[in-house]
Amino acid sequence: MNISLRRDDLDQLNIAIHRKEISVLVTNRKLLDAAREGGYAVGAFNINNMEFIQAITETAAEHRSPVIIAVSEGALKYAGFENLFSMVEIAAGMENAEFAIHLDHGRDMEVIEHCIDNGFTSVMIDGSHLPFDENIEITREVVEKASPKGVSVEGELGKLAGGEDNISVSEQEARFTNPDEAAEFVERTGVDALAVAIGTSHGAYKFKGEPQLAMDILEEIASKVSIPLVLHGASGVNPDHVKLANQHGADIGDARGVPDDAIRAAVKRGICKVNIDTDMRIAFTAFMRKKLAESPDLFDPRKYLGAGRDGVREVVRTKIELFGSAGKTG
Ligand code: G3H
Ligand code: 13P
Ligand code: ZN
Repeated sequence: MNISLRRDDLDQLNIAIHRKEISVLVTNRKLLDAAREGGYAVGAFNINNMEFIQAITETAAEHRSPVIIAVSEGALKYAGFENLFSMVEIAAGMENAEFAIHLDHGRDMEVIEHCIDNGFTSVMIDGSHLPFDENIEITREVVEKASPKGVSVEGELGKLAGGEDNISVSEQEARFTNPDEAAEFVERTGVDALAVAIGTSHGAYKFKGEPQLAMDILEEIASKVSIPLVLHGASGVNPDHVKLANQHGADIGDARGVPDDAIRAAVKRGICKVNIDTDMRIAFTAFMRKKLAESPDLFDPRKYLGAGRDGVREVVRTKIELFGSAGKTG
């Protein structure tokens, strides 16, 4: 694209961008509607620092893939809002870039409002721990704050597994998203996307036995809900990366993630946003440990952080292929 602007126009444009009146970042809703229409999913990748931002955004641009940059409340606390936001915003100016910046698992209303008012293009309100009506109430409140500013909202219904051992199958099923409740939740809240619980969990230890997701429940939800659906806890936990980390001093036990086939099946059934954090954490750690172990004399952080960054690039590239989002940047 070749556009020529007068100096005055350029100054106005810069002022508007600085005031966050114009954004080069896009909303989740835009990316997810296109994904739903096109039968693919967009990856939501968590960031905490510069290396992750570079690995995700550069790999996405290289493959002309839209991506969602996910920022948790913990990430904001660790790195600072302005530091993370400005790095993502600069990256979004790259050629072939189509990125959304999204608050992941928002629970603190002050943080949610700060993100809505300061350039985030999407926020998640995670009321999944609340009773149904309270979850609807708080989610509706966030939609009312976000919608006038053109910010997308993701809600969550049902509880992701994990955290507790020895829970019975019926207890487990009770935590899955109820399809009728999902339809009512979407209708009463006006959310743009809905995170569902169908058997995944956060972290590296997702399944004790054979991995199983409730595809029948997902199908039923998709038949009753006409907005994009979201899969949290979707990391695959690559055994090669776990092995590499363990070979170089880590002690990651019996880690098990969601198989690629299950992700493909879920995308076919209406999942449009797939959340990945653990896979990048493991790859970053494995590649960095290898670098440090191979070069005990090394103390230049750029060398080992750069190696970790290469690990994250590898994960993002394989996920973009898996989700079918390569070449979809508009
Ligand atoms: O689902 C949560 C993400 O993995 C972010 O984790 O809260 O430790 O940043 P965090
Ligand atoms: P994983 O722990 O499976 O990567 O899930 C990440 C996630 O759901 C972030 O919201
Ligand atoms: Zn999550």
